[in-house]
Amino acid sequence: MSTRIPLPYSPKVLELFRNPRNAGSMEDATVKATTGSLACGDMIAMYLKIDDAKEVVLKASFESYGCAANIAAASILTEMVKGKTLHEAWNISWKEVSDELGGLPIIKYHCSILAVGALKRAIRKYYRHRGLRPGWLPEKPTKEELQAVEEEKFIERLYGRASEGKLDEGNRSRS
Ligand code: FES
Repeated sequence: MSTRIPLPYSPKVLELFRNPRNAGSMEDATVKATTGSLACGDMIAMYLKIDDAKEVVLKASFESYGCAANIAAASILTEMVKGKTLHEAWNISWKEVSDELGGLPIIKYHCSILAVGALKRAIRKYYRHRGLRPGWLPEKPTKEELQAVEEEKFIERLYGRASEGKLDEGNRSRS
């Protein structure tokens, strides 16, 4: 019998984990960005199709190699950004994503941080490729972007320790 305690996922997380919306790559994407690390699997790729004239997200999709919360967060975020201007999409916080999901367990906050990090990275990349930076787009990385980078470093450290066989059960339970 398994001794693992199931995480208290909300019904919305479970629904989107079982039936994710907008899952898969997008052939005609304007921009794609990723966060996380493919090495360990906690990774999200975000695809955006953007109306250049209006700077509006026409559609979004994602690929996830992470956990149920990772899939649900990326999925709901693709729904939340649809029809929004890039400025509005930029302002979506990981907490709003978590709230839309009916809340995430604390140890799963980083799954939402990675999803929002991928979105912000895609928006930055889009403007960088166009040689533009609108006034609302901060020059320096925001707190949320830095959090995503911290998560990536954590994942890589954790993965490094796991592959060296040094991972104890306490750390293993975080992911
Ligand atoms: Fe969910 Fe890492 S992405 S546990």
